[in-house]
Amino acid sequence: MKKIVSIMTAALALSACSPQPSNQPVEQNIDKVEVITDLMMSRRSIRAYKEEPVSREMLKDILKCGINAPNGRNLQSYEIRIVDSPELIKAMTEAVVKDMPEVAKRPGFKNIFVNAPGAIFIAYDTRYDFAQVDCGLLGENIILAAWARGIGTCCLGSSARFLLQSPSAKPYLDRLNFSEGFELLYCIGYGYPDETPEAKPRKESMIQFID
Ligand SMILES: Cc1cc2nc3c(=O)[nH]c(=O)nc-3n(C[C@H](O)[C@H](O)[C@H](O)COP(=O)(O)O)c2cc1C
Repeated sequence: MKKIVSIMTAALALSACSPQPSNQPVEQNIDKVEVITDLMMSRRSIRAYKEEPVSREMLKDILKCGINAPNGRNLQSYEIRIVDSPELIKAMTEAVVKDMPEVAKRPGFKNIFVNAPGAIFIAYDTRYDFAQVDCGLLGENIILAAWARGIGTCCLGSSARFLLQSPSAKPYLDRLNFSEGFELLYCIGYGYPDETPEAKPRKESMIQFID
């Protein structure tokens, strides 16, 4: 119950992403620290989803949080596309599976976005050397803003790789209509979660203070 309340409070805190973002620094506030920490520590990659679609209004709020992430020189060196049509998700999947049948061998396979009912496609500006960093920060904001609203996500390198490598998927890649100089980097599958995975262990030894 405490977790649900804190996630809901996080939702309210993060609703600052939507229409009128405040330009005031967030004051040190123990409640916010707890809520945001809980949000980050409870988030998991979701690979089983309910069929219920996520509304475009909700998605817009989440993406506004995304594009408010820090980014190099405020170049906003990415382009974002969203596909929530079951028909288009199915068609993309069929195209990839035609060229790479092994992809469909994963148990319970439904689509190339770890079975998510929706997918966000993130392309980076190949002419800017920090564009991939911008894309990563954009994605983490999207993922946390989604989690605060009860929406699960999975960051997906494989889906982008499949689409880029499958000749049959080329028309769907073209349909994403990224501008000249932009290339698909990764996808984020999203939807209402139908699983509660455990956290995977992290290597705290990776963190070192240097005197
Ligand atoms: C760049 C990147 C690419 C990823 N690609 C995939 C993928 O192709 N398929 C997948 O199931 N998960 C993918 N993931 C999710 C990771 O497997 C997951 O974040 C990691 O195992 C830690 O688990 P957690 O997110 O639940 O904490 C990717 C994550 C990142 C950051």
